[in-house]
Amino acid sequence: MTTITLESPKDTSSLKSEQERTLKAPRRKYGFFASTLFFMMDFFYGKKQTFSKFKVLEIIARVPYQSWEQVAYIAMTHTYSQPGFARRIFEFVKEARLQQDNEQWHLFMLEEMVQKKGIHENFFMYRILPQIIAFFYYHLSWIMYVVKPAWSYGLNADFEDHAEHEYMGFVLENPNFETEPFESDFEQDYGSFKSLADLFRRIGIDERIHKEESLARIENARFS
Ligand SMILES: [Fe+2]
Ligand SMILES: [Fe+2]
Repeated sequence: MTTITLESPKDTSSLKSEQERTLKAPRRKYGFFASTLFFMMDFFYGKKQTFSKFKVLEIIARVPYQSWEQVAYIAMTHTYSQPGFARRIFEFVKEARLQQDNEQWHLFMLEEMVQKKGIHENFFMYRILPQIIAFFYYHLSWIMYVVKPAWSYGLNADFEDHAEHEYMGFVLENPNFETEPFESDFEQDYGSFKSLADLFRRIGIDERIHKEESLARIENARFS
């Protein structure tokens, strides 16, 4: 299984070839719930990608991992009498937490950019509404996971595939990002990059890794 690593790649040419790879790859055939979510996001925030719209995306991105973690903790409460089994659940919790933290850094860096650039955001649209959407998305992920985990992983794979393509497309549409330096209070935590373009390419790769993790989980569920 792929593990999330921030070590590589970081250099511009590798990041560019990863961006090419995403842009050449077809998107997944999104399911009903994912398509509805993307439609709603375009409806409320417009089709054009913006820093603020990505922030909304990142607020929502964390919640499937939170819902899986919560279900896993309940499962551990019921299975700790079989420590070997409970430990495997705990390994899964740790992985979900890593992904959740990774999404958290994305959110922090985007918020920092929005503030530095002095982008005005409507309070309801960018503070309240994303939390309402996240609330419903959390419960949807939760219930799907309880009924059939593969459904929840499939929904997340759709979400992450969409995010991966959107970030890589955002870089393509904004050539000025190539020369805009990335300066952040979160460089120590997340990594340093030569430009905003490289940062967004790296975030796009993270989203691909998240997608691959979910797809691997579906495969594992099929063969276990
Ligand atoms: Fe993200
Ligand atoms: Fe993600």
